This record gives sequence, C-alpha cells and structure tokens, in this order.
Amino acid sequence: MKVAILGATGYTGLELLRVLSNHPNAQITVATSQRYAGKKLVDLFPFFKNELALTPLDYDLIANNADIIFTALPQQVSMEIIPELLRHKKRIIDLSADFRLKRPEVYEAWYGPHKAKELIDEAVYGLPEIYREHIKNAYLVANPGCYPTGVILALAPLLKYIREDSIVVDAKSGVSGAGRGLKLSSLFCEVNEGMQAYKVAAHRHIPEMEQELSKLAGKDIRITFVPHLIPISRGMFVTAYAPLKGKLDSKQAYQIMSEYYQGESFVKVLLPPQIPQTLHVRGTNECHLGVKVDERTNHIIAMAAIDNLGKGASTQAIQSMNLMARLPEATGLEHLPLFL
Ligand SMILES: NC(=O)c1ccc[n+]([C@@H]2O[C@H](COP(=O)([O-])OP(=O)(O)OC[C@H]3O[C@@H](n4cnc5c(N)ncnc54)[C@H](OP(=O)(O)O)[C@@H]3O)[C@@H](O)[C@H]2O)c1
Repeated sequence: MKVAILGATGYTGLELLRVLSNHPNAQITVATSQRYAGKKLVDLFPFFKNELALTPLDYDLIANNADIIFTALPQQVSMEIIPELLRHKKRIIDLSADFRLKRPEVYEAWYGPHKAKELIDEAVYGLPEIYREHIKNAYLVANPGCYPTGVILALAPLLKYIREDSIVVDAKSGVSGAGRGLKLSSLFCEVNEGMQAYKVAAHRHIPEMEQELSKLAGKDIRITFVPHLIPISRGMFVTAYAPLKGKLDSKQAYQIMSEYYQGESFVKVLLPPQIPQTLHVRGTNECHLGVKVDERTNHIIAMAAIDNLGKGASTQAIQSMNLMARLPEATGLEHLPLFL
C-alpha cells in the first residue's frame, strides 16, 4: 500500500514516518514539507533509511503516488487541501481537528472559519474502539485529538454509573503536544523543572470530548477540563473525577472497565492497585487505564496514560489505516515502549 505523509517534518509526521518505516504493508512514497522541499529526508534525519526527497504539496504528485494519505498539518490548513484530494478519490486520515466536530458552528467558535463544511458529515471520528466498523469504509477519517483520546477511553465505560453534572478532568501533556514550531512557551528553560496549567476550562479539545461522550451517553455531557504542561517530551496522563450515581467499589469498577474493553489490542485496564504510567506506553499505540473508587466521597477516579504522539495521534492514525486496508488492526504497531 502506497502512503503519503503531508507535514512529514512535524512531530506527528515524523512519528508516522518512524512507525510506518517498519510497517510490513506500507511503502512511504510521498512526504511533504514546505520549508524543506527538495531536501532528502535522510539529509535532515540521518536515522531514516528512506532516500525519499521531501516535496511541496502537489495534488497530482500525491494522488498519483499514494493510496492512503495522512494529513499531519495544522488545523485550518488540512481543510484547504483535503477537498481536492478527495476529488482524486483518495482515502485520507486527517490528524488535525478540522473534521472532528460535527457542528460547524461549534468548530467556528473554537477554531475559526470552516471552509469545507460539506465534508463534515462524511468524516468518521477515528477512534477505533468506538467507530471500528465505520472507519473500515471511510474515505475521510478525523483522527481524534490527544486529550480527547485519553479522556473518552477513560470515561466511556463509566458513563452509565456517574452523574454527568460534575465531571472534572485534570490532564498533563508533554511538550511535543504543542508541535515543532518555535514558541516561547515550548523553550527548554520555560518548561524544564516546572509545571503549569494552561487554557484552564478553555482548551479547544473540550467540545470534542463533550461531543463524543454525549453521543455515547445519549445525553448532554459537560466537562470541566484543566490541562497542564509538564517537562517531558512525549506522554499524556489523564485523571477524571466524577460522582457516582449509586454505590460501586473499586473491584466492580475495574470489572466494568475490563469488560468494556475486552478483546481490544491497545486498551489495557490495569488491575488495581496498578496505576498507569506514561513511560509504560511511550512510543506505542497503547492506552493504559486505571480506576479507583473513593468510597469516602463516592467519587470514581479514572486514569489514562497514552503517548500524545502515539495513541494520541500517529499510531492511532495507523490503526485506522490498518482497518481501512482490511489488515489485522495491530499490524506494524506491536512494538514495546521505550521505557527508559
Ligand atoms: N503534537 C501532538 O501531540 C498532536 C497530537 C494530536 C494531534 N495533533 C495534530 O496534528 C497536526 C500536526 O501536529 P504536529 O504537532 O505534528 O505539528 P508540527 O510539529 O507543527 O508540524 C506541522 C507540519 O505541517 C507542515 N505545515 C505547516 N504549515 C503548513 C502549510 N501552510 N502548508 C503545508 N504544510 C504546512 C510543516 O511543514 P514545514 O514546516 O516543514 O514546512 C510540518 O511538517 C496538528 O493539526 C495537530 O493539532 C498533534
């Protein structure tokens, strides 16, 4: 299968290149960059064995040389490019937020004007654990955001048991979550040895989590969400707190979660008292979940650890690619974490 990666020099693009380089059914035929067009990939990143030269965005070149296209581009850029690629009848997995939100007015309130509204309905939300069958036949997959992946996977099994009026989620992300572009807030001295909350109750991933959890619950779900930046390169940890409707103990909560994800290749519910750790999923497509009931306050605490560039972005996109290509879902994704 011939694969194109648009935005190959960004963090998620590089992770796609790294993992797809060892995928037995994928051949990377196009990798784009505006800034480095004309340079060989190997001249910028000597660890790649691929002799491919980076190209600018050229629709004919992409369409003539790829069966599946990953768009690892900034939001608002993807929506400019995808309509033309779909006209070429290509299958696309978009890592940006441009096609994740089903209501254009919600997208526009959080991200800005939408220029390809007619494609929103066609896009399938690319969370395989929930939308597996839809992804298989999709032409446009909207790969989920990193925070929403962790939050949805942690809360989905518990929606029947919690009161939806006061769900609080606290989450931490490594610095690669902000992308590779130069930003003051991503500089080593600004991040190292520190920790800070940011976009408190105002992060753009909030409507995405609420959209998907509301769909699963069959009623309106609201979340108080506070993300934090922590001094690690990659990794994401989610802690969700919610009051229980009735009584449940930690053992029952564990059983509910494990039954929900029974048979899943990439979601592992840890047996209490094990707690997820970002290092245990680093560089993988795994999501590790933990759960505990605080019986004193009758609150449930669900935890998720993912790699923001892995299950939170690029390897999740490859999981969808496998589904679209009718390959075993774990093809090329079974490597162990880089624990140290
Ligand atoms: N980072 C994460 O953890 C993460 C997780 C989930 C989803 N995402 C989403 O995935 C997408 C990519 O994120 P990232 O972190 O990989 O970003 P990034 O590191 O900033 O990389 C962006 C890539 O897009 C290219 N690009 C930028 N502007 C462009 C334009 N106008 N036209 C064509 N190419 C352009 C850049 O190419 P050149 O600079 O080489 O020209 C670069 O290759 C974003 O939509 C992001 O929200 C990111």
